[in-house]
Amino acid sequence: MIELKGRLAEIAGYVPQGSAIIDVGTDHAYLPIFLVQRGRCPRAVGVDIHAGPYKSAVEQVGLQGLQDRINIYLGDGLQPVQPGEGDVVTVAGMGGTTIVDILQAGERVLAQVNRLILQPMVAGASLRLWLMQHGWGIMEEQLVEEDGRIYEISVAERGTQPIPSEIMLELGPRIVAKKDPLLPKLVGNRVEALEAVLAQLGKARSPGLEVKQAEIRNKIRLLQEVLA
Ligand SMILES: C[S@@+](CC[C@H](N)C(=O)[O-])C[C@H]1O[C@@H](n2cnc3c(N)ncnc32)[C@H](O)[C@@H]1O
Repeated sequence: MIELKGRLAEIAGYVPQGSAIIDVGTDHAYLPIFLVQRGRCPRAVGVDIHAGPYKSAVEQVGLQGLQDRINIYLGDGLQPVQPGEGDVVTVAGMGGTTIVDILQAGERVLAQVNRLILQPMVAGASLRLWLMQHGWGIMEEQLVEEDGRIYEISVAERGTQPIPSEIMLELGPRIVAKKDPLLPKLVGNRVEALEAVLAQLGKARSPGLEVKQAEIRNKIRLLQEVLA
């Protein structure tokens, strides 16, 4: 039996009992193996675009004796998957824009999927915007801290749910609404990064500098207001 901790364990927690997951960017296939071994998923699919992680996933599935319940494919995103092979898609550990590209190109498979569990490393706002514009409503979100870094998990299902402001897109509407315990730390990190940009801009001389500085100060103010 393999064990999961932190980020991947939290993602596993959002997979409904009895569902079949398609894990894109599966790497060692730890998530599908864990879910099948725990009886949460009767079967699963893992996909990876690179030969190294693909081989590692095939090897792990073989070592655990799960070849008849977990299919591992080599390929880009949802391209190698047949519609109906899974009803939940997980994509973790990639940039938000890469996740958008994978979802955008995978509509053929997504037509039979009813839940997405996504963990972008960066560009969460772009991913949330895409979800909102393509008929996916964010029904749950969570922050997880692992090895000093904060990760965002978004769970989406079919439906419409407007995200009311740019700052909500950036931080996650559910994370803000439920006042996730890690929200102050996430906001602190974002403010710190913007202050570093302001300090750099302070040393520069270029046209439009003051406008840029004002935009950043406004964003810092909006971020801090979320915690007020
Ligand atoms: C950082 S690892 C994350 C592994 C695992 N999902 C996790 O969260 O721990 C990213 C994996 O995604 C794979 N990957 C990147 N782009 C991909 C794509 N377009 N389609 C399938 N796999 C992809 C990489 O080869 C790599 O194995």
